[in-house]
Amino acid sequence: MDYYENLQINGHPPQRRSRKPPWRIALTANLKSQMYWQPGQPPDAGAEFDARETVESIAAALEADGHFVHICMADHTLPETFINLRPHFVFNIAEGMGGDAREAHVPALCELMGIPYTASRVLTNALSLDKTQTKRIWHSMGLPTARFQEFTSSDQPIDPALPYPLFVKPAREGTGMGMGPESIVTNEADLRTRVAWVIETYRQPALVEELLTGREFTVGYIGNRGFPGGRTRPYLYNFEGYHFFPVLEIDASRSVTPGVYGHAAKSLELDEHGAPAYLCPADISDGLREQLYSLTRQAAEAIGACDVSRIDFRLNAAGQPMLLEINTLPGLNPAVSDVCIMARAEGMPYETLITEILYLAAERFNLPRPVIHQLGSMAVAEPALLLPRITPYSR
Ligand SMILES: Nc1ncnc2c1ncn2[C@@H]1O[C@H](COP(=O)(O)OP(=O)(O)O)[C@@H](O)[C@H]1O
Ligand SMILES: [Mg+2]
Repeated sequence: MDYYENLQINGHPPQRRSRKPPWRIALTANLKSQMYWQPGQPPDAGAEFDARETVESIAAALEADGHFVHICMADHTLPETFINLRPHFVFNIAEGMGGDAREAHVPALCELMGIPYTASRVLTNALSLDKTQTKRIWHSMGLPTARFQEFTSSDQPIDPALPYPLFVKPAREGTGMGMGPESIVTNEADLRTRVAWVIETYRQPALVEELLTGREFTVGYIGNRGFPGGRTRPYLYNFEGYHFFPVLEIDASRSVTPGVYGHAAKSLELDEHGAPAYLCPADISDGLREQLYSLTRQAAEAIGACDVSRIDFRLNAAGQPMLLEINTLPGLNPAVSDVCIMARAEGMPYETLITEILYLAAERFNLPRPVIHQLGSMAVAEPALLLPRITPYSR
């Protein structure tokens, strides 16, 4: 599908950028160094922003593929940066500076200016940030997700069908912000106190869910629905067009936030004292793995995710996997991000992960891209674009 067909600028389709790679790529990000904590903000504000090493690693991977990369701050200066830089492509990892759809800001600007960009589009990135809206869609489609209620005030009537213990979290944050063992409440008084704290601290609704007490998994994938035959590395994808990474289990039971994969646990290095155990591939039955992959595909397609995503699951007391949330801009720090841990576990080089995201997006925008045929253990690139050496690995 050519997404440009839907775009109009002043009544005309934007200039088609049919340029062959290499491209001038704007790598759009919000860096931790951009974040100035101000009174009134939550103590973990900016936790979702990226570290310098993350953008430098992505830039290095794209440069090794022959592109010219400019790291661009995704703030109020971005429109002017785009006007001056005139990028052929945007590689977007920006979490957004603020607002109820902040992860959709860069996609919206790219669409306004007719620039192709990686990962999910405006509506999907706005939806996925909002856990309640996403759960409403999943629930309406019959996908399994814990029973829930959203609170915009702490004195709202409570749905009598919600069984204690309950879990309280901000509806539109990530990276475990506002979450820890104290998110678990066992009675109405504690529920109302915690809801009030979330609303006051994060200035957004509180999402209250049935507590899921089983094992926790996260599933990452790259791909889009469609025949993968013409892709840069077609051998990576199944017949539906997806490549699922090995399932990662997170055991936070002995972490700094026991039983909850909260902000404090997520901030630690993998082997640091108090970090959760990361088990990849998770020791699970073939049946559960296939169920997790199938739910991941359905949950991602339900909100129209593109190119890459990661979905968090937790089993309920009966051992059934329940959808927690989808991350349509999953972290891409080569050392610590979940998707990178998964890719590493199957032997996929970081450069392959990053360039596949780029070329999956290029395919959606109908842009020319290189083709790599895997012949046994050898990889041959064509057409003339020189690509880095491909290390063969198992699927
Ligand atoms: N309903 C729930 N029951 C039990 N644990 C939960 C529930 N919701 C969230 N958690 C815990 O909190 C963590 C963070 O929640 P999640 O919804 O994935 O938000 P984030 O966007 O911050 O990652 C989860 O990884 C899980 O450990
Ligand atoms: Mg999560």
